[in-house]
Formats: sequence, C-alpha cells, structure tokens
Amino acid sequence: MIKSMRQTTLQTLGLGNALEIFQKGQLPARASDLVDQIFGTSNNRGSMVISGANGIVGAGKTMQLGSRLQPFGVTIVALDFPNVADGIAKQYPGLVRAFGPQGANSIMAEVIKLNYDGTHLPSRVKEFHPRFLLEAIPEILSIKKAHYKIFKDAFPGIEIRSVTSGFPSSELGVGIAHPAFPHEINKIWEVVESQPSSVTHLFWALGLIPVPVSDHWSFVLDVLFCGLTLAALRFHQETNMPFWKIDKYVRKLLGANPLRAHDAIGAKGANFLTWSCLYHLSQKYGELFRPTPVLEEHKESGQNWYPPNHFRPLVNWSMDDSEEEEFKNWVLGPVIQMTSLMLHEKRAHLSHLNAIGELCAQFRKGVIAVIRDLGTDAAIKRVEAYHKLHPEAARECWYPDTFTRMDTPEWQQLYVNAEHDGKVGIVTISRESYNADVDAELNRAIDWLKSEKIDRVILTGDFHFSTQMIGADTSEFFPALENTEKGFQISSGWSKTARRLNDEFKVSVGFINGKRCLGGMLELLIHCHYLVSVDDAQLGMPEVTLPVVPGMEGCHWPFRKTGSGHWPKLLHLLLTGKPVRAGEASGWLIDFAGALEDALKKVWKIVTDADHGLPRRRIEEGSLRDIPKETGDLPESDNPAAEAARKAIMECIQNSCAVPLSQALVVQAKHSSEFMRSAHCKNGRIGSEFGRVMTV
Ligand SMILES: NC(=O)c1ccc[n+]([C@@H]2O[C@H](COP(=O)([O-])OP(=O)(O)OC[C@H]3O[C@@H](n4cnc5c(N)ncnc54)[C@H](O)[C@@H]3O)[C@@H](O)[C@H]2O)c1
Repeated sequence: MIKSMRQTTLQTLGLGNALEIFQKGQLPARASDLVDQIFGTSNNRGSMVISGANGIVGAGKTMQLGSRLQPFGVTIVALDFPNVADGIAKQYPGLVRAFGPQGANSIMAEVIKLNYDGTHLPSRVKEFHPRFLLEAIPEILSIKKAHYKIFKDAFPGIEIRSVTSGFPSSELGVGIAHPAFPHEINKIWEVVESQPSSVTHLFWALGLIPVPVSDHWSFVLDVLFCGLTLAALRFHQETNMPFWKIDKYVRKLLGANPLRAHDAIGAKGANFLTWSCLYHLSQKYGELFRPTPVLEEHKESGQNWYPPNHFRPLVNWSMDDSEEEEFKNWVLGPVIQMTSLMLHEKRAHLSHLNAIGELCAQFRKGVIAVIRDLGTDAAIKRVEAYHKLHPEAARECWYPDTFTRMDTPEWQQLYVNAEHDGKVGIVTISRESYNADVDAELNRAIDWLKSEKIDRVILTGDFHFSTQMIGADTSEFFPALENTEKGFQISSGWSKTARRLNDEFKVSVGFINGKRCLGGMLELLIHCHYLVSVDDAQLGMPEVTLPVVPGMEGCHWPFRKTGSGHWPKLLHLLLTGKPVRAGEASGWLIDFAGALEDALKKVWKIVTDADHGLPRRRIEEGSLRDIPKETGDLPESDNPAAEAARKAIMECIQNSCAVPLSQALVVQAKHSSEFMRSAHCKNGRIGSEFGRVMTV
C-alpha cells in the first residue's frame, strides 16, 4: 500500500505512483508496446494522419510526433489543401538544428504529404493504413464534424483526436489533445477523454506531457491566456493606455505578456482564436468573458497589437501606486474569478492547473501559486474590487468558496509531493526550476515523511512535468540585486533545506532522469547520500555564465565528498559552466550512471540496503586543505564579467572549503549574496532580465 501526501499527477494518467517505478525497476508504459497497440505490429504498421498539416499546429506537430515516431517506423500522412503555403518546409531548419541533416532527412522520409479538397480523401491514403487521425483544421465546428465523418466512413475504428482550442469533446464527438504553442517544441497537451487511453500513454512514453482536463468549453491554457488578454484589453478600454504599455505592466505583475504573444504567434490567427475562445465562453458563462470591441476589431483586421518600436513615444510615464492598484483590480480580479470557475468545475488537478500557466502561458508562477500567495481573503477582496469596476462580471461564475481550503495538501503541495510504502519514501519535484515555493513545499514533504516515521528517501523529478531540472528560478534573485540580506536569506535558507537530505535520513538517494540537471537543482541533489543518474543526462553548474556565485553549497559540498584527485574536475565544472555527461561523472560527482532501468534498480537497492556494491562517500566535516587555486588549463576569458565571476567563485570555493562544515553554509551564502549586488551581476542576465521585466 502506498500512501501519498496528495494524489500523484501520474495517477491522473492511470500510470500509478512514482514509488512503484522504483519498486518495479521500470516505467509504467513503454512506447514500443503502445505503438504496436495503436498502429499495429511492425509487420503490419499503420500510419498517423495529421490533417491541416501545413497550419501552425499541424506543421509543428508533424515535426514533434514525426521525430518521435520515426524510430518505430510509423509514417505520418500530412494532409492539407493543394493551394496553401508549405508550413512543413518552414519547420525543416528547426528539425536540422535538433537532429542534424541526416536525422532530419530520415524523419522527413517518413512524412508523406498528400493534397485533398476537403471532401474526398485521396485514394492513396488507404495504402498507409491510417490508425490515428490528429485533426488540426480550422476552429469551425461544422467543418471539423464533417471531417471526422469522412474518416470514420473510410476507416471505421480509427482513433481520432482534435487539437481544438475550445470545443468540448461532447460537441465534437471525438477525444481531444489540445496542444500549446510553440507546437514543435511545447510538450504539453491538454487531454479530454473518458479514461486515460493508450494514445495518452503513448504520448507520455514518447516524452510528451499529456494533462487530463475535464470536458468544458475551452481549456485551462486558453481560459488563462485568453482571459488575461481580455483583462488587459478591458484596462485599455477604461484608460486608453497603449497596448504595449499595458502588456509590460501585465508582464511585471504575472510574467506573461499576452499581447506580444499574439503578435509572435501571428496576430491574424491568434486574434481569431482568442476571440473565438472568449466568445464561446461568454455564450456559456456571461460577461466575465465577453470580448471587448477592440478585440472584435483586431479579430476582423488581423492587426498586430504592438506598433513598430519607433512608434513608441520617447516621453514616457509610469503609473503611481494607486493607479497600479486599480490596474491589479482590472487584471488580477478577473483572472482570479476565472480560476474560481475552473476550480468549481474541477477542470484539472490543482498542480496541473498551476503548471499549465507556467509552461504554456509564460506565468512567472502558476495561477494557483499566485492565489495561494495572496491568501483567501486578499484573493476574494481583489475580485470584489474588480466587481466594483465591472459589476456585470459579478452576476455569474464567481465561486469564492473555492478559495477556502488552501490549507489542504492539494493547495499546499503544487510542486512537490511525497509518497511512502511504510519503509521507503519518495519526494518528487515537478518544477524544472527551484524557487521559494518549491523550497517550502520540499520542507513540508520532508516533515510529512518524518511524521510518518520514514527514514529512507528517494528525491527525484515527478516523471510527468519535470523532464529536466534546470536550476534556480533566477527571477527569485531580483530582490537580492539590491539587498544583500535578501540574497543571504535565499542562499542560506535553501542550503538548510538541502542539508536536511543529508542530516535527517538514514539513507537518501537522489535520482536524475531526463536531459539535464543543472545549478541549484544539482546542488540540491548532491546533498543526498547517494546520487544516481541516467547516463546521458548533462550535469553542470552554469552559474558562472549568468553570472552568479552558486549559493546552495556547490562551492564546497562536492569537494568534501570526493578525494583531492577529483578536485580539478570540480573546479572545471564550476569555473567553465560546461556540463559533463552523467556517464563521466561517476565516482566524483555522482555515484552511479546507467541505462534507465539499471539506474532505477540501483536506486531501489541502495534505498532498501540491498547489495548494491557502492561505497557511501562520506562528507568531510573538517576544513579541506590545498584546494587548487587555479585550474591551469583554463584559457583566460575575454569577457570581464566571466573573469570576475570566476574569481568570485574561486574565492567562495577557497573560503567555504577552508572552514569546517558547520561554518561553511554561512560563508558560501555570504559570498553568493555579496556577488549578487555587484555590477557584474546587475549587468548580467539576471540584472538585465530584472530591468526588462520589472521596470515599466
Ligand atoms: N494556433 C495555435 O496556437 C493553436 C493552439 C491550439 C489549438 N489550435 C487549434 O488548432 C486548429 C488549427 O489551428 P491553426 O492555428 O493551426 O490554423 P491554421 O489556419 O494555421 O491551419 C489550419 C490548416 O488546416 C487546413 N485545412 C482547412 N480545412 C481543412 C480540411 N478540411 N482538411 C485538411 N486541412 C484543412 C488549412 O489549409 C491550414 O493549413 C484549430 O482548431 C485551432 O483552434 C491552435
């Protein structure tokens, strides 16, 4: 029996618990089995048809699915009208960048382009034995329905999924796999089906991120993205502030700039889709979603929202505090109200609702995390203040009660979950980058395991959202650019959390799955007694390139865990920012690297004290002597910021290694926070991001 803090998101896909993956030593679904199931066995393999394949979605998905299915010999039949521009050819350079010319050509060899007139399927489609249709044709219900009929008549039993932006499955009569922009790379698909199907499992097994959602008008992403766009446009209607300026204020508030995003996607199509989504939502839910006249105009004209740069006035002004409050009422108010509707309708697992905003709509923090930060009263007050400005919106779909249970694990553990089987616990992190929320949730997860008397733990990603671990969320450091105390709090606080993995368990094992584990995430994981990785993951400390000084004990912890013969490699890692392949890091940075199933089995053996054959690398608690002061082989950088960062990192290494473990945490936190106030950091990536996002 596995007990968990809250439902794991894998369970929503019918794929069990994360802990079972280690117990069984394998993943719960295999792409090869699912390909056989859906497309037929290799001697009788059918194809996938993508209709509308030259469109924005169709062409992107032809690349994404084509590249993943090509190794299994699944042909993609790309169907579109003869007179439209070749959207697939436009994707080809990206394919070459990702797979090289030879790889790209092998993928394209399995993409068969066929033309048709919209009513009669070309007879040659039959030759490819279609088993699965991904429909990506325009957002017009009658056309979509007629399209399914043609396919169902010709190929009874064919699996169909629509990429629709807003029609419910009950209206379309087929399942939905709603993707997020940019389609060739974004892995998220909101899925509507009565039960998690083998198609959904296949998507997961191919490394995509299917997210089950309920069958309502529009999707989570579109409610958030179109809803935020509408909120910005309402503020325009009220104040006449230029679109680009509102957009910048929205970005400062939430991270997203929805109007710029419309222009980037292609204003003509995107304006129509946003209008269509809001129009249908307003038909069902009323004023809260009613498109404004200016959106109607832009839907008709297809006009961009941003003027060319040279048309932005040079004389600029900012809102004062009370104006910014009113802006928040206009923008946050409706977004919170829309979220109350989605919670009321139980559209998705809370972690899903939250993650979709971050991964697909540029929210700095997911909408649930934003509301959690506000707390129940402030969230409700914000909506009430909005209703004073826009009373019509108060009439329907406002569910303040949905915010009264914020103390439950569903609200409290958006990014971190814990499970155990009575003996072994697992903590899973679903966010790719570490921030204060992850830190607090990780502490709660550890507290929970301890209260359950679990002293053996695995720490890893969630096998769903976290396809890589990229380090600290750099927007967390904005306050530290001006305030050393803030930087110190972050660095020392996060380091203390990391130390719990070393100090509070009998055995802790970190596991790295996915493409990469970098920076703060790697620093976190090296605090586990053992660290295991899949062998092709990239492990690195890119802080020097930002530049910042690693602040989660990366400058001394790994030195204390390995012999002096390996110290030059650690210096190289920290001073160049260049990653190493996990397979090359065994014995000095990590303890074992192997193929996925070998690595899973190794983790289980370690955590259960079975015969695993790995020595436990003890941490040296005294001070370390003779850490090299230079690497010798490192060419001088011509970038002064990089040189300054190297120097600062070297000082941090020397000083935090020179003191006992008990003092090192504070020493390295001081170095890290002091560097954050330096001109080099302010002029680097974090400082310029701060300037771009936070000053309007
Ligand atoms: N654009 C986005 O970012 C986005 C995101 C999620 C979902 N969607 C949904 O994806 C679908 C397609 O949108 P798009 O933005 O890619 O549109 P698009 O206009 O770029 O592409 C549609 C393609 O379908 C083709 N087409 C039209 N009728 C067809 C038919 N009967 N058979 C085959 N091909 C046909 C067109 O020639 C065109 O190439 C819509 O349902 C939309 O709501 C779009």
